[in-house]
Amino acid sequence: EIARARTLPALKAELAALRTGGATIGFVPTMGALHDGHLALVRHAKSLCDKVVVSIFVNPLQFAPTEDLDRYPRDEAGDIARLQSVGCDLVYLPTVDVLYPKNFVSRIELAGPALGLETDFRPQFFSGVATVVSKLFNQVRPDVAVFGEKDFQQLAVVRAMVRDFDMGIEIIGMPTVREADGLALSSRNAYLSPEERAIAPKLHQALEAIRDGHLTIDTAKTELQAAGFGQIDYIALRDADTLGEVTPETTSRRLLAALWLGKTRLIDNIPA
Ligand code: PAJ
Repeated sequence: EIARARTLPALKAELAALRTGGATIGFVPTMGALHDGHLALVRHAKSLCDKVVVSIFVNPLQFAPTEDLDRYPRDEAGDIARLQSVGCDLVYLPTVDVLYPKNFVSRIELAGPALGLETDFRPQFFSGVATVVSKLFNQVRPDVAVFGEKDFQQLAVVRAMVRDFDMGIEIIGMPTVREADGLALSSRNAYLSPEERAIAPKLHQALEAIRDGHLTIDTAKTELQAAGFGQIDYIALRDADTLGEVTPETTSRRLLAALWLGKTRLIDNIPA
């Protein structure tokens, strides 16, 4: 039976039990509605550490007032069953008042890899992500934390934060888990209508066509909109380490995209 904690004192008690005998702790922060992408992170954490802790918390700080905080998919019972099936040892399910009590006033401020891309469209997003991730890191104090490359800019921001604040946590990135047709698994895919779901894999196909030199970014944008996508926030080729523009010093490149399909915002990225 998987251990659960909803409060800070309960988390501390469960962590003390897990750490008996000097066990190492791997940590996977999530917002729930868990799919096989999340479970791949948990399995990998389990292969690296003795014990694995997963948090499920839909973080209001990273949602703008116009975004989908209220309708974000939630399935606590299903999530716990899935976590149990992959050997997670402890699930942390804090409420909003546990992470943000009334006197909560601080925020992490970022630059570097947080500039541009997502930040051009969701200005407070990474500050909200970094603030909750730093709180969760301080509460769980893991040895290792595993994040998905699906959110490539987020992974870069977390690496920068851990380095800048000397957090001493090893950050591991995991390749994106995809459906057979190439669509990246995402909790938000549940929003897609059957018609939208049929169109959605064209995003990954377009990224591959750009990478392989079959399409320019501009022609790919035109084709995606003709296929039924709405606003394209960005499709951009960047330096994979800095997320800035590609320069002569660039050793590894990443092609990143965010765009709308009906009322759903999709993001994806591939090495390029
Ligand atoms: P969430 O979207 O639930 O994602 C949790 C973790 O799962 C992230 O590291 C994300 O990159 C990873 N992930 C999602 N889809 C994936 C896929 N198809 N393949 C591989 N990994 C995948 O990202 C967040 O939550 C939040 O911003 C959080 C970090 C928890 C802070 O609130």
